[in-house]
Amino acid sequence: MESTKKNESNVNITGIIAITVVILGIVAGVFWYSGSWDTTVVSRVESNKTEASIGFWTPRDFMDIKGQEKREQIAYGKQLIKHTSSYLGPKGSVKSLSNGMNCQNCHLDAGTKVYGNNYGSVKSLYPKMRARSGTIENIQKRINDCFERSLNGKALDLNSKEMIAMVAYIEFIGSNVPKDQKAEGSGLKDLDFLSRAANPQAGKVVYEAKCASCHNSDGLGIMSGSGKEYIYPPLWGPHSFNDAAGLYRITNMAKYVKYNMPLGVNHDSPQLSDEEAWDVAAYVVSMPRPHKSVPKDWPNITKKPIDHPFGPYADKFSERQHKYGPFGQMKKAK
Ligand code: HEC
Ligand code: HEC
Repeated sequence: MESTKKNESNVNITGIIAITVVILGIVAGVFWYSGSWDTTVVSRVESNKTEASIGFWTPRDFMDIKGQEKREQIAYGKQLIKHTSSYLGPKGSVKSLSNGMNCQNCHLDAGTKVYGNNYGSVKSLYPKMRARSGTIENIQKRINDCFERSLNGKALDLNSKEMIAMVAYIEFIGSNVPKDQKAEGSGLKDLDFLSRAANPQAGKVVYEAKCASCHNSDGLGIMSGSGKEYIYPPLWGPHSFNDAAGLYRITNMAKYVKYNMPLGVNHDSPQLSDEEAWDVAAYVVSMPRPHKSVPKDWPNITKKPIDHPFGPYADKFSERQHKYGPFGQMKKAK
């Protein structure tokens, strides 16, 4: 008798605990889904200074935003940077104008990671003159450049809620940097040239050993079950960035990979040697990807970066050498 009673009350307690857990789960789910998670919990976690960020720019804290409406706008902008494809990709809930990648795939931690191609200097340095277009570009133009090239898609309407939110987010996080100053650790970290050309065959070996486990040996990445965004983004193939994108230039690719990949690596703890970074970058840029014709780029060819893989050039070096190096002698010749 006694023991059955005990069992019953045990069952009751277990039942109550189970229900509590489910309710807590639902509350957390609603909280997360509504975006509040992102603005409160995550921003606090991200603003905790880790060793790799000491002495470098960190984004302005979301707690500094005045007003609910502004807070929601900036939080939406952040969501769009992190989950671009869910809103604007092939199965986007707002519109379909990009290739399935997210801005965050290349602008890590929503564009806040030290030397993870972050947005620290955007608010302080834009509008600015860019040699690629030969014009003064504002932030909207720069964002649409990435839509048309890095996301191999179409430009976003300048007056759309999405463009306004992304600009608001990028401007807010960089609003702690004085005008005309470069934020410490923004963009990509410098990497020495090799004395030889980067070698795609050697890079394939690095790729198989250190990248294929996530990006897949076919380089096409891994799509999530919902088909809305990638778990591991593609590095080449039809859904990758096109050949007019900044990351198609080998120096950008090598710098990005050296200080950020395999995922989890920081600028102060790289895992790849310089040779491995250059060679794997060469392999990635040697693979097929969408082509975009941009006849108006680099109106002044003397301003073309050394690693721009398409002629005409102001020097005598071949397209192949401009694509893979060696770059040292080219630099001297200039
Ligand atoms: C495939 C990688 C990739 C993706 C995806 C990508 N970008 Fe970029 N983006 C870059 C690279 C590389 C640069 C720097 C290029 C250069 O300076 O030549 C850049 C530069 C920028 C800049 C200027 C930064 C500065 O300091 O001058 C902004 C702003 C920007 N991207 C916004 C976006 C937005 C918004 C998205 C999503 C809609 C996006 N990018 C998606 C690779 C990417
Ligand atoms: C542990 C998994 C993992 C490994 C291993 C890994 N990556 Fe990544 N990589 C990612 C993820 C995830 C992203 C997107 C990050 C995000 O959205 O926050 C990414 C982004 C990238 C990007 C920019 C986005 C794109 O699709 O073009 C490049 C380039 C890249 N990785 C190259 C490499 C290379 C080269 C290696 C090997 C040296 C490598 N990765 C190893 C997970 C990985």
